[in-house]
Amino acid sequence: MSQPIKLAVLISGNGTTLQNLIDHIQAGKLCAEIVVVISSKPGAYGLVRAQRHGIPTHVVPRKAFADLTRFNEAINQILHSYAPDLIVLAGFLSLFQPAEPYRGKVMNIHPALIPAFCGKGYYGRRVHQAVLDYGVKISGCTVHFIDEHYDSGPIILQSAVPVKDDDTVETLAARVFQEECKLYPRAIQLYAEGKLRVEGRRVKICEDDADT
Ligand code: GAR
Repeated sequence: MSQPIKLAVLISGNGTTLQNLIDHIQAGKLCAEIVVVISSKPGAYGLVRAQRHGIPTHVVPRKAFADLTRFNEAINQILHSYAPDLIVLAGFLSLFQPAEPYRGKVMNIHPALIPAFCGKGYYGRRVHQAVLDYGVKISGCTVHFIDEHYDSGPIILQSAVPVKDDDTVETLAARVFQEECKLYPRAIQLYAEGKLRVEGRRVKICEDDADT
C-alpha cells in the first residue's frame, strides 16, 4: 500500500467539495490525508467540517489584504509548514498564486465544461444560471491544473451531464455535483499514482507507467 498523498485544501464557503474528499478518504476510496484547510473567508462552514474531522484550519481573509500578492504570500507561508504534496482548490473564490515549490501541484474543480462558463465571476450557482440562460444542452464539470488565470490551466478530466428542459439552477447544480464527487477524487488519485503527464496544455493519463 502506498503512502497517502498529503493534501492542502483551500476553501471560501460551504465546503461541500471538502466534505466529499473527507468522505472518500474515510471510505478508503482515496489514498490521501488532508493536512490543512485554509479559508479565505472567516465564517466559512467548511472550517467547521474540517474541525469536526480534526483537520487543522487557518483563515486568511481576502479582505484583510489590499493586494492579491500579499494575500497569496500569507497562504503560501502557511502551506510551507504543512509541506503538502498537492493543493486542492475546493470552492476557493480568489486567484491562487502558488509559491515556486507548488507550481504544477495545484488542482481546481469547476462546475462547467471549460472553456465555457468559466473565468472571473463564474462560481457556484452563477455558473449554472449562465448555462441555463445560454440554453446549452450539455454541461458538466472540469478538473484542471491551475495557471495564472481563473479556470484556464491544463485540463485533467471532464465529465458531461445533460441540461434538461425543466432544469432549475438547483436541479442542474445537483446533477453536476454528483459528477464532481466522482471526478475530483479520481483526478487526485491519478496524480497520487504518478499517472498524469502534462505536455503543454494537454494532460495525458499514463496507465502503463503506474506501479501495480
Ligand atoms: C463546487 O461545486 C465547485 O465546483 C465550485 O464550488 C463548489 C464547492 O463550493 N467551484 C467553483 O465554482 C469555482 N469556480 P463549496 O465547497 O463552497 O460548497
